[in-house]
Amino acid sequence: MSAAVAGETYSVYGTRAADAAAAAIAARVGHETPVAAVVLGSGLGGLAEQIERTATIPFRDIPGFPAATVAGHAGALIVGRLDGRVVLALAGRFHMYEGHDVRLAAFPARVVHALGARTLIVSNAAGGVNRTFGSGDLMLIRDHINLTFRNPLAGRLEPGDVRFPDMSSPYDPELADVARTIAREQGTVLREGVYAALLGPAYETPAEVRMLATLGADAVGMSTVPEVIVARALGMRVLGISCITNLACGLANSPITHAEVLDATKHAAHRFASLVRGVVSRL
Ligand code: HPA
Repeated sequence: MSAAVAGETYSVYGTRAADAAAAAIAARVGHETPVAAVVLGSGLGGLAEQIERTATIPFRDIPGFPAATVAGHAGALIVGRLDGRVVLALAGRFHMYEGHDVRLAAFPARVVHALGARTLIVSNAAGGVNRTFGSGDLMLIRDHINLTFRNPLAGRLEPGDVRFPDMSSPYDPELADVARTIAREQGTVLREGVYAALLGPAYETPAEVRMLATLGADAVGMSTVPEVIVARALGMRVLGISCITNLACGLANSPITHAEVLDATKHAAHRFASLVRGVVSRL
């Protein structure tokens, strides 16, 4: 998608749009450089309650952000301090399964980068493909498989982007080590694995889940990958945490419901918040 400004075309969800969104946010909250931005997945918004808030900006007030989100997503950017350190938290995200463009799904990463964040912490609710995982487990995302077949970088090269970004280390090994250390200190079991992103919104079939296991996936979900791709193209460090909310289809005898997914995050939300808070304190 593109729009014309003074005879020039630019991407609606590109660098210039992100700069405009960041300017609007900075006009409300001032110019303090955040140590990190955290994308809060379905049901994991509790961390936002622990932030000493400077501002809560509804997505609809941010230029370029549409207002619509699904149940479990509050749809606001929270600016504030976590243990004294400035952070941004995105409560809610734009999913491709809602019909959103993949570039919009990734747009928040551009905006937080424009606000000065150089570390992106992404989280999500995911189905467990690895049979050793249980509902409520936290999984450190070591790598991902993009099965959405969409890429937010496709199209004109945005100013500041790398055309062919290296993806050999999408998730930062040092940040992963910090997360492992914090989890150990907190007595939290931290699983590790590969996150496969599918478009959704239908959950997977049992045959698809068998395929995902064959491909090397440990968890499956419908988000995260667009933001991570853009963050890497911009040179940000990324930490990813999945909350395993259910066994993926065919691995358990019950159908999957969104209510079950949200319920499982409730049990993990506290561990998740403590883990992220611990990581932020070491940045
Ligand atoms: N599949 C895809 N996305 C999900 C799942 C799942 O089983 N659980 C939570 N998000």
